[in-house]
Amino acid sequence: MDLGLKGKNAAITGSSQGIGQAIALALAEEGCNVAISGRNQERLDATAKQLEAFGVKVVAINCDLSSEAGCKEFVEKAVAGLGGLNILVNNVGGMIPGTLESLDEATWATALNLNLMAAVYTTKYAVEHLTKNDHARILNVSGISGTQLLPGSLTTTIPNTAIIGFSKLMADQLGKNNITVNNICPGMTSTESWGPRAEGMAKVRGTTADGVREAFASQTMLGRWAEPEEIGKVAAFLVSDVNSYMTGTTVEVCGGITKYI
Ligand SMILES: NC(=O)c1ccc[n+]([C@@H]2O[C@H](COP(=O)([O-])OP(=O)(O)OC[C@H]3O[C@@H](n4cnc5c(N)ncnc54)[C@H](OP(=O)(O)O)[C@@H]3O)[C@@H](O)[C@H]2O)c1
Repeated sequence: MDLGLKGKNAAITGSSQGIGQAIALALAEEGCNVAISGRNQERLDATAKQLEAFGVKVVAINCDLSSEAGCKEFVEKAVAGLGGLNILVNNVGGMIPGTLESLDEATWATALNLNLMAAVYTTKYAVEHLTKNDHARILNVSGISGTQLLPGSLTTTIPNTAIIGFSKLMADQLGKNNITVNNICPGMTSTESWGPRAEGMAKVRGTTADGVREAFASQTMLGRWAEPEEIGKVAAFLVSDVNSYMTGTTVEVCGGITKYI
């Protein structure tokens, strides 16, 4: 199926590895130009090289998205480098394991800035560029900790639930401009960041890192973790023209870890 993404311009936050990288690759494979971001220049360059192999325009932006200024810089450089913007994917973020007692003010600030405010600020600066194009798309990346009880995930449960509300509000506000805003909710996904995170979560849960990984796999209906590519492909559909009537929706790609009906 042709998703109609050829020649479109997409900016994806936090995309030098993991799910953001997989989304960028899925879009580039469809012929979509991409702006990617990260702070580690080596990882950014390696991902840019992978993306360029698809023959699309790639803009690699080294910036810190934990402040409003960083988000503004990302949007401005993405728009300037790509020559406009059709698609914004707010992906940056990640869980920092901890308890109410162990998490300090600085850790909370990092977690909330990256998992919630980066999406708010990046959207704030992207909207004026998206509205210049027909059928623009915004996709927020949250996670199942926003809809499903996941002990030890305070730092993503709180922003992820807020992202669901933010997506709905933006979908309502931008519908008149023909912009759809959706929210993809990955389940447990094998990304690089789960190395140290599984150790941290094991401490909170009183188990081992392998115990954490196995417990999550056994809670899914498919009995396994996702590969980042499995999230990337659904994301590509959600931001495509083929997805023309879904907006304000949260889409779970979680192997059936959530059980509500
Ligand atoms: N993996 C999962 O199991 C899972 C499950 C549910 C939801 N999610 C969500 O999916 C999203 C991606 O997760 P992931 O596991 O793929 O993350 P990841 O592997 O840690 O990748 C994060 C990406 O964001 C960049 N980044 C991190 N901090 C940044 C900052 N301050 N400024 C700019 N870029 C920054 C990283 O590059 P640098 O470090 O070089 O900056 C990297 O490219 C997150 O929103 C996460 O909450 C993940």
